Amino acid sequence: MDRRRNPYTPNAGAPPRYLAGREVELDDFRTLLYRLRRGYSEQSLIVTGLRGVGKTVLLGRYREIAEDEGWVAVEAEVSKSTAFGPQIASLARRALLQTSPRAKWNDRIHRSAAVLKSFSLSIQPDGSLNIGLDVDPAAGQADTGNLNDDLADVFEAVGLAARESDSGVVFLFDEIQFLSKGELEALIGAVHRTVQRELPITFAGAGLPQLPGLAGDAKSYAERLFRFPSIGELPGPEAIAALTEPAKLEGVEYDVGAMDKILHYTEGYPYFIQEFGRAVWNLAEGPRITEADAVAAADLVDDELDDSFFRTRVQRCTKEELRYMRAMAELGPKEQKAVDVALLLQKQSEQVSPLRSRLINKGLLYTPNYGYAKFTVPQFDRFMRRYMPEIDGQPPT
Ligand SMILES: Nc1ncnc2c1ncn2[C@@H]1O[C@H](COP(=O)(O)OP(=O)(O)OP(=O)(O)O)[C@@H](O)[C@H]1O
Ligand SMILES: [Mg+2]
Repeated sequence: MDRRRNPYTPNAGAPPRYLAGREVELDDFRTLLYRLRRGYSEQSLIVTGLRGVGKTVLLGRYREIAEDEGWVAVEAEVSKSTAFGPQIASLARRALLQTSPRAKWNDRIHRSAAVLKSFSLSIQPDGSLNIGLDVDPAAGQADTGNLNDDLADVFEAVGLAARESDSGVVFLFDEIQFLSKGELEALIGAVHRTVQRELPITFAGAGLPQLPGLAGDAKSYAERLFRFPSIGELPGPEAIAALTEPAKLEGVEYDVGAMDKILHYTEGYPYFIQEFGRAVWNLAEGPRITEADAVAAADLVDDELDDSFFRTRVQRCTKEELRYMRAMAELGPKEQKAVDVALLLQKQSEQVSPLRSRLINKGLLYTPNYGYAKFTVPQFDRFMRRYMPEIDGQPPT
């Protein structure tokens, strides 16, 4: 069919034409904003899930909801290569200036701006994070240089300014597993302060499934401040809707046999559905997509996924790391005991545990339970077996 009218969106963070499922997570977020705006406390949300399940897309919807409700949403993607302090200083400044334009500043907002200025100067003494904050810094606030203390002052200041302007502020952070323990601790502590002060400000985020554990390690009260809804593969009817609704908008339908094949292949993972939808659309004659079309598209989808999703993740791995993951793949898609993987590699557990840590650090594995590890990427076991047919064979160079 006409590829120019292909309705699928197999790209990281690309909003799908039809957002399937996720009603609960969206409703929880609306409730959170409603309650905070009125001075009730409510646990904030940190969405967790494997790669490609739709976390970034959901955060994007959160932003839209916040804006519809008259909140200011400021977003950032955390990465190991971007310093968090300047990142949050610049977001806080943007949030303040957006909730409270300069012309409308009263004394209280003025004081908030002064706190922000002292924070920005403690992070970047050259003043480059201060544009628009033409006030004297507030001595003794947010200027200790210790993020843990300062960020709470900053959140409080921005929250006060937002309340003064009858608005609210939500920080939306993606990939928060990449925050250091200290940064996560500071963020959780800052939210704690704003909950105590009943301010209309919060932070919601998304990241890989190890997050609840990381947050609990950082601050023991994290579980009382946040909920960690986990999203994953779409259940049958929603997976079908994710596949068929975008096509329906273009007047194209699927045969039942085609849907079955595609559901079986994708297991309901949103990214795989988008990738399959795109491939089968381009290949089918139409206007109905048949089972034969789906069968013919499967190999193309394998190739496409390998190129765009899987292979990029192994390119920075050493041979030993690849072998470790290949051994895990041999044991199947579920979580695997570290000792079992070591056994397959004919090694002692302690010998391979540094490898395992490195893979966790790279975001390829996570530990759902003590002593276990699991792939963060759905169907990664299948990929590893395609990529490296033998455990003790040479990985491709
Ligand atoms: N609810 C949904 N219904 C249909 N398609 C979806 C849904 N959520 C996400 N998608 C599609 O799935 C793909 C992955 O979405 P997204 O990039 O948000 O995943 P992610 O969890 O952030 O992945 P990663 O961990 O790799 O960043 C995109 O192509 C998007 O269009
Ligand atoms: Mg994402």
